[in-house]
Amino acid sequence: MGNFFPRWSNLLPLKLAFCLVVLGLAVACAMAYYFTPKYTRVGYMPSQPVAFDHSIHVTQLGLDCRYCHSFVEESPHSNVPTTQTCYNCHSVVQKDNPKLAPVHESMETGEPIHWVQIHQPPDYVFFNHSVHIARGVSCQRCHGQVDEMETVYHAEPHSMGWCLNCHRAPEKHLRPQREVFNLTWKPEDEDRETFYRETADLAGLSYEELLGASREKFGFEEMDEPMSQREVGGVLKEAWGVSPPEGCAGCHR
Ligand code: HEC
Ligand code: HEC
Ligand code: HEC
Ligand code: HEC
Ligand code: HEC
Repeated sequence: MGNFFPRWSNLLPLKLAFCLVVLGLAVACAMAYYFTPKYTRVGYMPSQPVAFDHSIHVTQLGLDCRYCHSFVEESPHSNVPTTQTCYNCHSVVQKDNPKLAPVHESMETGEPIHWVQIHQPPDYVFFNHSVHIARGVSCQRCHGQVDEMETVYHAEPHSMGWCLNCHRAPEKHLRPQREVFNLTWKPEDEDRETFYRETADLAGLSYEELLGASREKFGFEEMDEPMSQREVGGVLKEAWGVSPPEGCAGCHR
């Protein structure tokens, strides 16, 4: 028997396989582009080894973020608390609640609780918490309303475009440094006189001059007219000389 099929057809399966691989790659790239991270990262809510509830501990009990995330102001990286921090209360409070069993176990064995890290940029990105905190960028801007969360989830995309959006117009996000940890702060809550006195002090400017210049720029008449984000953020940006990096080397070092 001779060869029934012509020679070139032997290559057909190979060619088909090649086409499929190329197609597959194209689909994978498109998926990677469209679904990460803006589209899949938001809402990511892994279950944690202990059902720790921020809304109880922050809103109900009034704990400050820094009670547990104690390094966030001083260091590039924000820590999660050690078991000892929980034990300050839970050696006594709700001792027999089964939800706290892993906490007791961790204390006995010395093995830390393995919290699942939710926010995690690729390692070619440089990020520093303390720089943002020092310039009045609230946790709320980057992590959402954590004070109301029973389980923490990824509330913002943390994509490059998202970082840049704020870096191009930081005045839309800045607030007085003392309110960074207050996740329910609103610009209308600010007392104008206190705000201008503090800001003038911080920036080494004269209160009267700063107030006068702003009165013109933001067009308010009375001191008790509510403040807007435009005014609060605009004044802080100028006073602090805030100019976040937009060049590639700023975030990719
Ligand atoms: C009593 C301790 C405690 C307090 C107070 C607290 N947290 Fe947390 N936080 C935790 C623990 C424990 C975790 C890790 C488990 C989890 O994700 O729920 C965590 C996780 C987080 C995460 C997610 C971290 C990640 O993995 O990416 C964010 C964001 C966060 N906290 C923000 C805040 C903010 C903002 C405040 C203040 C409004 C605050 N926390 C107050 C204990 C605390
Ligand atoms: C300042 C004291 C304090 C600290 C610190 C603290 N807790 Fe609590 N926690 C409480 C109190 C009080 C309650 C009870 C609240 C209630 O019943 O309304 C509670 C409740 C809980 C519950 C039960 C919630 C439920 O739905 O039954 C868990 C789980 C818990 N805490 C975990 C933790 C973990 C984990 C840490 C450490 C990261 C921690 N707590 C740190 C005071 C604290
Ligand atoms: C400008 C945006 C921004 C602000 C403001 C911000 N964070 Fe973050 N946060 C991030 C990014 C990005 C990450 C992931 C990179 C990292 O871990 O450093 C992160 C990670 C975290 C983690 C996880 C650390 C870990 O190892 O699991 C915690 C906890 C946290 N932030 C708490 C806070 C608290 C509390 C505040 C307010 C005091 C805050 N963040 C303010 C952007 C921000
Ligand atoms: C809501 C506003 C906001 C968001 C979101 C934000 N930033 Fe910033 N960033 C700032 C401000 C304000 C500064 C301080 C600029 C200054 O002091 O002049 C800053 C400064 C920086 C700096 C310079 C710090 C230094 O040490 O030189 C880096 C790097 C940076 N941001 C990276 C990031 C990255 C990466 C993201 C996204 C994951 C991000 N930022 C998201 C507002 C923001
Ligand atoms: C404000 C901070 C910031 C600046 C400035 C910045 N990047 Fe990025 N870049 C990021 C972050 C954050 C990511 C990670 C995105 C993610 O994980 O979703 C990223 C990711 C990337 C990626 C990976 C592909 C992607 O889209 O995920 C490339 C390539 C990149 N950046 C190039 C650049 C170039 C080129 C510049 C200058 C024009 C630049 N970046 C400026 C924050 C920044």
